[in-house]
Amino acid sequence: MAQTLKLASRVFHHIRCAAGVDATLGSKVSKSAPRDLADIPGPSKPGFLAELFCKGGLSRLHELQVQGAARFGPVWLASFGTVRTVYVAAPTLVEQLLRQEGPLPERCSFSPWAEHRRRRQRACGLLTAEGEEWQRLRSLLAPLLLRPQAAARYAGTLHNVVCDLVRRLRRQRGLGAGPPALVRDVAGEFYKFGLEGIAAVLLGSRLGCLEAEVPPDTETFIRAVGSVFVSTLLTMAMPNWLHRFVPGPWGRLCRDWDQMFAFAQHHVERREAEVAMKRQGKPEEDRGSGAHLTYFLFQEELPAASILGNVTELLLAGVDTVSNTLSWALYELSRHPEVQTALHSEIIAALGPGPSTHPSATALSQLPLLKAVVKEVLRLYPVVPGNSRVPDKDICVGDYVIPKNTLVTLCHYATSRDPAQFPEPNSFRPARWLEKGTAPHPFASLPFGFGKRSCMGRRLAELELQMALAQILIHFEVQPEPGAAPVKPMTRTVLVPERSINLQFVDR
Ligand code: HEM
Repeated sequence: MAQTLKLASRVFHHIRCAAGVDATLGSKVSKSAPRDLADIPGPSKPGFLAELFCKGGLSRLHELQVQGAARFGPVWLASFGTVRTVYVAAPTLVEQLLRQEGPLPERCSFSPWAEHRRRRQRACGLLTAEGEEWQRLRSLLAPLLLRPQAAARYAGTLHNVVCDLVRRLRRQRGLGAGPPALVRDVAGEFYKFGLEGIAAVLLGSRLGCLEAEVPPDTETFIRAVGSVFVSTLLTMAMPNWLHRFVPGPWGRLCRDWDQMFAFAQHHVERREAEVAMKRQGKPEEDRGSGAHLTYFLFQEELPAASILGNVTELLLAGVDTVSNTLSWALYELSRHPEVQTALHSEIIAALGPGPSTHPSATALSQLPLLKAVVKEVLRLYPVVPGNSRVPDKDICVGDYVIPKNTLVTLCHYATSRDPAQFPEPNSFRPARWLEKGTAPHPFASLPFGFGKRSCMGRRLAELELQMALAQILIHFEVQPEPGAAPVKPMTRTVLVPERSINLQFVDR
């Protein structure tokens, strides 16, 4: 009976696709008969591998999205190593796919990380958890992080971190060759800022990453984050049998995660001991003073192992994302002084010129150009250039029926550089987000993902970026390094600058 029902529902699904009716949107998407995986165009397996290596390996995966769409159309199938995936590179199809999501969407892009948790008997955090475990974590964390009012609660904490960043940038100027206001490798500075910011939110205490002497364990953590992103793509691409002969990538991935877990454990335990000391002798009603995220998780009586899994993964998520976006934002603003001047004027008009101005989260979120700059930077340099989903049922995507359990890659980099959506797609033009007229498709630039599995740190990240940009521009005019060549992005699981970005921070 169950089999018959399943078959009937499948036939009905095919009929809807054939009739050109998308299962959820109720809109016409295609008039032709549905086709399946075997009909999807794409390069041969050896051809794709050869292409990967000729074109710079995994670090050029984002460019292969653009080339794949140009060659095969908006849907194609390719395998790299053991991973076979359907690429989807048109905003309408990305929307169609995401709107068919079930209640427990699966991403699967971090499968080697989940494997690490399994082998080490560690609990998964929100990034790697799946199914009901994921849902439970999501419903606990969302009220603490994702609601705008929840993120705004951390504005005071983040303001102190941003002030330390400004002091650190001032200290780092003129170290090494070049003009006196030059800061070398700004991403390196912003990784420290990213870690300090997310740790302050999670633990309610400061690590000291932005001090003159950076604590060695924070340097180790930041190195581990960078390194784990490099080995993630490699371990995914390698067939299991090859790990025995080439153990390096898997070994490095485990070592890096072990270091990150050890770091998180040390700081969570230290912080809990401090909070317990402070609470000693206080009546029950006065004990809620440790208002940091880990404290709230302990109050929810989440098992300690799960708290540790989540803190570790949130620390990782807070480092590369905000920092790379901030690096690109200042890189582009330094090369577009007219945009920088307009943005500076907008910030000063709203917040006043005083150096110690503490802007409220709401005031910043209402500055149109500031918001447009962040959107434009994330359009050009989406931190996650290719996201993924593994549908739990057969779904229609354009002309095709994609069987359940197929890995589908959403080509965010390609859609956000599509000239049909964004004229002059490779130019930094924040004004495009402020112009009246034809707007791009809402799924063309989707830097924080979509739906139930969308980015948990979105509000926090936006706040950090807005606060950091406002304070940096209040204090400095940011200029490019004289004679520096343009910097391109590269894929390291996340999108990062291919080489160091050096910028001048000239006092205003
Ligand atoms: C510019 C900054 C950031 C960008 C562009 C970004 C982007 C993303 C994207 C694209 C996803 C996948 C969404 C999906 O599958 O639909 C994601 C997931 C996630 N992000 Fe972020 N992120 C940023 C900052 C942060 C920060 C600061 C945190 C830490 C609080 C964070 C925590 C997470 C978590 C925990 C998930 C997994 C959510 C889940 O699976 O339920 N992100 N992020």
